[in-house]
Amino acid sequence: MTTQETIKQTFNFSVNGQPQTVHSYPMKRLLDVIREDLTLTGTKEGCGEGECGACTVFMDGLLILSCMTPICQVQGLDITTIEGLADSTGLHPIQDAFYEEGGAQCGICTPGMIMAAAHYLEHPDSAENMGEALAGNQCRCTGYTRIFASVEKAFEAVGKPLPE
Ligand code: FES
Ligand code: FES
Repeated sequence: MTTQETIKQTFNFSVNGQPQTVHSYPMKRLLDVIREDLTLTGTKEGCGEGECGACTVFMDGLLILSCMTPICQVQGLDITTIEGLADSTGLHPIQDAFYEEGGAQCGICTPGMIMAAAHYLEHPDSAENMGEALAGNQCRCTGYTRIFASVEKAFEAVGKPLPE
């Protein structure tokens, strides 16, 4: 490690619309900052190696893997976690659909899956189809049928055609 990496620094960014200041080693993973420093434990760790998507959050509206993102790359940016998806009117349509269709079982993949699905609902042109949109998110429980049914239901609920 270089000297800079062993000295704590101050990072300012926002999480779910709230300004945050964290004193941290610059290479601390955003996932750990979210869960430990900010006690937002909705975001999960699966593989910790960038393979499973469980730790997915939005950074300035883009999907990122928080296990692969050091806090030093988050300075001044806006992070959205699963806790920030619902608003004062209620759950996000993807959350409602997962609830109604039983899209979650053990729940480890669910926050990341919901973030990826929410991004797809917002940006249907970002992928060829639903399978591609969720390809970075692995689930060991559901066999994907209920997850796909949940995403279909959310598109239906907001009146958007699901790309084939
Ligand atoms: S925990 Fe980040 S991709 Fe698996
Ligand atoms: S619900 Fe258990 S890993 Fe997906």
